[in-house]
Amino acid sequence: MQETIHKHTSFTLEIIYHLGTYENSIHFIFDHASKKCSIVDPAWEADLFIDRVKERGYELTDIWLTHWHPDHTNAVDELAHKTGATITAGINEVPYLRLEHPIKTVEDNDIVSIGNTDARIINTPGHTAGGICYALDGHLIAGDTLFVYGAGHCVMPGGSANIFFNSLQKLKQLPDDMMLHCGHDYGSTISSTMGEQKKGNPFLLIDDEDDFVRYRNNIHDGSRTYPMSAMTKDEVYALL
Ligand SMILES: [Fe+2]
Repeated sequence: MQETIHKHTSFTLEIIYHLGTYENSIHFIFDHASKKCSIVDPAWEADLFIDRVKERGYELTDIWLTHWHPDHTNAVDELAHKTGATITAGINEVPYLRLEHPIKTVEDNDIVSIGNTDARIINTPGHTAGGICYALDGHLIAGDTLFVYGAGHCVMPGGSANIFFNSLQKLKQLPDDMMLHCGHDYGSTISSTMGEQKKGNPFLLIDDEDDFVRYRNNIHDGSRTYPMSAMTKDEVYALL
């Protein structure tokens, strides 16, 4: 199990990679002042997460979800049951989440907090109907919306490549030095920056919605190899 640690004055972001059948990345946000922890998309290993937070001397009070897919949520109920943590998800994702516990809903630009650490919600539907990203102090936790030189599919219930196009166009407004953290490690590096992605991610290089939809639904899966690496705009357009 690989991990990275990003230390800031007020919080620490820890990420563990390659967990479970689909090799998910799990993100922990430890707020130093309150000793509270939020975990993003807990799946596969509830007890491992509980032990990790306890070992650090923190309390797991929040579960933040990017989207409903089971590989991102299959430990949520167990974790909420064992810790009493509050579950947060995008308002349009609620009909798809089959959870026993209540869900606090958020909308675009809402702020969610763990102690003194704030994250801004960015609505990014398309991979799912109500998918969201969490932006906090130089980091974007993107779930399956954006991968390093890739992006999520749109084929499961609630997915739409047309809607996804607009979400990814919106992410291009984020600062170049913002770090991208993804729900899966499919790229040539384990994380990236938005600047690198704006330059080399095909999903951010295609400017036209119809081209994007065609690339997403008919071209990408058959033309890329893993780990995915940077493309030039000419290389992307040659595939269209
Ligand atoms: Fe997903």
